[in-house]
Amino acid sequence: MRRGAWSNRYAFYLATIGSAFSLGNLWRFPYVVDSNGGGAFVVTYILLCFIIGLPIVVGELMIGRLSRLSILSATESISLESPSPWVRKWKPWKWVAYTANLTSVCLLALYSVICGWVLFFVMQYLTHLITGRALPDDLFNILMNNGTLQVALMSVHILITTFVVSMGLKQGIERLSTLIMPLFMALMIYLIFKSLSLPGTVDAMRFLFYPNFSYFTSETLLKVLGHVFFTLSVGMGAMVVFGSYLREETYVPRSGFKVTILDITISIFSGFLIFPIVFSANINGDYGPSLIFNTLSVFFNKMGLGNFFGLVFFVCLYLAALGASIMLLETSVSHLIDSKKWNRSRASWSMIVFIFLVALPASLSSTLLKNLKFQDLSVLRLYDKFLIDYMLPVVCLGISLLVGFGISKKKKQELFIREDEMDSEKLFRNWHFLVRWFVPAVIIFGFVSSIVF
Ligand code: PHE
Repeated sequence: MRRGAWSNRYAFYLATIGSAFSLGNLWRFPYVVDSNGGGAFVVTYILLCFIIGLPIVVGELMIGRLSRLSILSATESISLESPSPWVRKWKPWKWVAYTANLTSVCLLALYSVICGWVLFFVMQYLTHLITGRALPDDLFNILMNNGTLQVALMSVHILITTFVVSMGLKQGIERLSTLIMPLFMALMIYLIFKSLSLPGTVDAMRFLFYPNFSYFTSETLLKVLGHVFFTLSVGMGAMVVFGSYLREETYVPRSGFKVTILDITISIFSGFLIFPIVFSANINGDYGPSLIFNTLSVFFNKMGLGNFFGLVFFVCLYLAALGASIMLLETSVSHLIDSKKWNRSRASWSMIVFIFLVALPASLSSTLLKNLKFQDLSVLRLYDKFLIDYMLPVVCLGISLLVGFGISKKKKQELFIREDEMDSEKLFRNWHFLVRWFVPAVIIFGFVSSIVF
């Protein structure tokens, strides 16, 4: 099937970064760093982004670029080409793709609950800006006590996402990412300057960058891996979709590298924004998923023109999260279009009830289902842990094996080794070793250590 291609190089970067730069960086990064002791987590995260995340980003982009298909159809065709009758019969790769699609749809459900929270903040800042009143410091608690509102906002988000996806990938994502990225970056930099002038900055920097490995538990490696995969948008088939729209001449490893660098930078920026506030306001205790909402409402309340900046920030955050949600849905929609030949609108709307039903318990986890806890985790945190700490590493293990062993070496070399690219042969050897042996070994070690130790 002939696919469209990104209209230019920047459209690809904007769209990919637009999906990578989202709640993972701004909402999840600060809270997992906070819950896992700071520096040791951050240092491991940066390292693993390069040696584990990047090889998979390149691998996923490669699957898409080589097949010009979405993950399920691509892996199916790879299984069929295999010389082994066992692989042709059981199509093991197909199961990787199924799990990736299921994970992405379930993650969209979790995402939708958090997007609902962001929408609430947008509404609050807007109304308070109009009326000129200050917002209460405990804004987040008001929302947490209102289950109906959370369900309503989550539903609105799912509806918006489905509507945008049903209109088409290129128009939807490209336009959105192009519009908000530069504005959001400029605003972030301004807010970081303000935050770094707070008295807690020195403590915050020590917390963020001084690695104290005594906080590391047997589960931390899996947590870091899961977060790396989530924030780099791998393990869900999303990068395969982006790769399938890459132009012929694009050098895939370089694209992957730039996406990784930018994504890490944005996460660190978000640490610069949040932690000085945490240390200045003496916000103690494990805030978990509510961390950025609690800290930022205090921050904006104290700042001149706080309601205005709060509104612009949460609008940008919402649009970034919408871009990511679109991508999460797009992975499954492209599969339905490729394999079942459904039209875009049917493929998009067919998923909505499932997503809503998965999201419902999570959006009631602070009210109706408040007492439903597993190992002291609320339903929402359980989703977060199960999908990101366990499911993503499982899928990424499958993807690394698929790329390492499933695709013929010749095809990979053709794409990777280029005369006009310096050292591309050496680069290929290193990448191939990482994706074939090192990445699977580290993921398996992560699981084993979390079970055994
Ligand atoms: N990387 C996104 C984030 O950091 C999540 C995401 C995954 C978005 C897959 C799109 C596709 O929030």
